[in-house]
Amino acid sequence: MTITRLVGYQVLDSRGRPTVAATVLLSDGTSHTSHIPSGASTGLHEAKELRDHKTPYSEKIFNGKSVFQACANINELIAPKLVGNVANLVAADQLIKTIDPSEDFHTIGANASLAVSIAVAKSQAHTEGKSLARFFQPTGPLQLPMPMVNILSGGAHAKKTMDIQDVLVMAHGATSFREAISWISAIREIATTEGAKLGAPTHLIADEGGLAIPFTTIESACDFVSSCITLAGLEVGRDVSIALDVAATQLYIDGSYHLPNANKVHTKNDFIAYMQNLVKNQPIISIEDPFAEDDWDSWNQFMTGIPTNLQVVGDDLYTTNLVRLNRGILHNSSNSILIKPNQNGLLTTTLQVLKEAKASNLRTVVSARSGETEDSWLADLAVGWGAGQIKVGSTHGSDRTSKWNRLLELEAIEDCEFNKGQPLKS
Ligand code: PGA
Ligand code: ZN
Repeated sequence: MTITRLVGYQVLDSRGRPTVAATVLLSDGTSHTSHIPSGASTGLHEAKELRDHKTPYSEKIFNGKSVFQACANINELIAPKLVGNVANLVAADQLIKTIDPSEDFHTIGANASLAVSIAVAKSQAHTEGKSLARFFQPTGPLQLPMPMVNILSGGAHAKKTMDIQDVLVMAHGATSFREAISWISAIREIATTEGAKLGAPTHLIADEGGLAIPFTTIESACDFVSSCITLAGLEVGRDVSIALDVAATQLYIDGSYHLPNANKVHTKNDFIAYMQNLVKNQPIISIEDPFAEDDWDSWNQFMTGIPTNLQVVGDDLYTTNLVRLNRGILHNSSNSILIKPNQNGLLTTTLQVLKEAKASNLRTVVSARSGETEDSWLADLAVGWGAGQIKVGSTHGSDRTSKWNRLLELEAIEDCEFNKGQPLKS
């Protein structure tokens, strides 16, 4: 099907901030739209999101955060070269690369490049009569990912009510995706009730739908979530375990790790030992960004003293970037990678990172951002790419449930297998 129009325009994300949308119109009269997410605890090495900070107009209306220039780049730089062509993801991504050959898309903006990439992928999938998931995996049973779901939020997502960013749960004992989501939804409800008993302001919901309950230590937050798992009638460690996103780049100042709520400052070596004890003493099966994005040595040292099946995930460390991933593989920096398409800027090159990670036996967790929209393309990617795991935030807010609900839809209508058993602590 031929592209008759491509339009970039500004819409709002779940934080009420502007973000980029792109719509492709095809010769059969259908239209295919993508919405682009946005991070708050962004990694230094991510592809560059373009915002209009400098213009007086944008400062007045969106506090400098508008994305009119990124939209104009879609309309003025990409559309004239794409319209009239057959919708084809690989060709579109190559074209975008020639329009902005910079590594990080700082000229047109990674929010512009990814918006077009996804809208074209949806258009090509439509042309082939497939869902986005089936476009990437045309035959065989689809693999539904293990969800990693936020219960408590802190750090940059909740005005630092906790030192770390997320305490999440993984229902690795569930036998289906719908069972995993129903267990976790029960745990999240119990956390609201139990949090209120502590006198916490449980009406305060963080950016990803998690509860912004203040906890002074990481241990007390983990103990709280463990008690909620038990109260839900589930067994900690057998049915459900804890995952953390430390987002440690946010804690790293002048070579030390600062935990203001715990009133502690750790040297690098201290912090490695602290993290190694934490994962041994708590029912933690996955830990993301336990060290800062460029503190490669600490990552490597940490890996030598952890339980064999602990999942160690690089998010800000890798920023879905092939060069950084290869460095991590070479140095045994982690055994897993978070895959965020907007850290990379294009679908084809994001998929390349995911494939490289899998080829090197790293686990892959496809992830949303803290600023999201109702668009559910991430769910289709997690399935179509066979990622194994997905992290979207909590079970609250339609920016989050749109992804869970799309996975539930795929489970209901497609031939699917649930990726149970990954990850598991020995
Ligand atoms: P971000 O957070 O989208 O604000 O970067 C998500 C994460 O760190 O995993
Ligand atoms: Zn993270």
